[in-house]
Amino acid sequence: MKTQTIDIRRAEPKDAAAIADVHNASWSGAYAGIIPHKALTAMLARRGPQWWSNAIRRATSVLVAEMGGQIVGYATFGRNRVRELAQQGEIYELYIAPEYQGVGLGSRLFAAARDALGRHGLEGLVVWALEDNGGAVTFYEGLGGRDVAEGVEVFDAKALKKIAYTWN
Ligand SMILES: CC(C)(COP(=O)(O)OP(=O)(O)OC[C@H]1O[C@@H](n2cnc3c(N)ncnc32)[C@H](O)[C@@H]1OP(=O)(O)O)[C@@H](O)C(=O)NCCC(=O)NCCS
Repeated sequence: MKTQTIDIRRAEPKDAAAIADVHNASWSGAYAGIIPHKALTAMLARRGPQWWSNAIRRATSVLVAEMGGQIVGYATFGRNRVRELAQQGEIYELYIAPEYQGVGLGSRLFAAARDALGRHGLEGLVVWALEDNGGAVTFYEGLGGRDVAEGVEVFDAKALKKIAYTWN
């Protein structure tokens, strides 16, 4: 049996292309048929290696999950952006490449991002998920997130409901 080691660590600029690949595959898998094709294609095009390289250099907090030396997931997090919510921290994005979903990597990345926010002195945590993204909704509910608020995100004139999950 082959044993694959799993490592969760901070992203470095050299990881930009690998993160862009995970982003592309996981967003295509999660949002095809939910976000209109044209809007999704435009979002993916904007987020190439250069975008990720800038994000990592600008000190956006980015964690990666590495399995057997390959980047298979990422999370970005920082200060909560919605003033009406009391939680100070937010996980902006948490994505696992499609072929690596369902084996516990998302839960590990979530825990690592939550710990890092705590170490930065931010209390409480919010994550937004599109209501139509059933996998994400099940995932955050399973992690004990409380569904506290709703919002709307508009993509090419299609309005999609989003849900805020919080942890204190
Ligand atoms: C949602 C996501 C981050 C979860 O990560 P993951 O590594 O697949 O999840 P885990 O293996 O840690 O699973 C934890 C729990 O979540 C649930 N879950 C995860 N993905 C699910 C899915 N697609 N459908 C239903 N339940 C799911 C499982 O019930 C699992 O519980 P269990 O351990 O009791 O079986 C990952 O599947 C993903 O990137 N999905 C596509 C993109 C996405 O939706 N990201 C979140 C955007 S806000």
